[in-house]
Amino acid sequence: MKKLAVFASGSGSNYEAIAAACADGRINAEVALLVCDKPGAFVLERASKFGTPIYVFSPKDFSCKADFERIIADRMDAIGIDLVCLAGYMRIIGDELLSRYGGRIINIHPSLLPAFKGAHAVEQAVEYGVKVFGITIHWVDESLDGGRIIAQRSFDYDGCDPEEVHRIGQKIEHQLYVETINAIINK
Ligand code: GAR
Repeated sequence: MKKLAVFASGSGSNYEAIAAACADGRINAEVALLVCDKPGAFVLERASKFGTPIYVFSPKDFSCKADFERIIADRMDAIGIDLVCLAGYMRIIGDELLSRYGGRIINIHPSLLPAFKGAHAVEQAVEYGVKVFGITIHWVDESLDGGRIIAQRSFDYDGCDPEEVHRIGQKIEHQLYVETINAIINK
């Protein structure tokens, strides 16, 4: 069975969608590692519920990104991780992880890339008066939200409430991430 690592920094609803799909057989894989760069993040509670092994760290305890990425990559090597799924991991992946896991890392982003990259995509799109919103899953490379697109799904929204867009978008994210992981691992 394929082994997934999920990286998250916050609430972890995408982690939970992936873990639940692995648990009930909708994804033929297991979440073999959760990596979290925020001690205290809610995703850690979700991961304990599923019994997922956790690596949690504080970037400030390391002198540079390569130092913590080396530990993460060593752990993933030891476990035999096949695919890394970034799920609200609010950190740019550095050279250490890219050199060892490049081509095996995907990310989910709450806009129709290449529009609205970065951490405040939904707020910026609402500010622009966007009418067609969406979700993108893409391969991760050295650019910010810039790797080759794997899947996208759009939805119409004509309003000015970013929270509502987040709510609609997250339901789509959870489905699209499960479908896309399946498509990749069953190739
Ligand atoms: C998701 O909406 C994801 O698209 C976004 O963070 C959220 C995490 O939610 N990612 C980015 O903005 C990446 N640039 P979750 O913690 O509930 O899964």
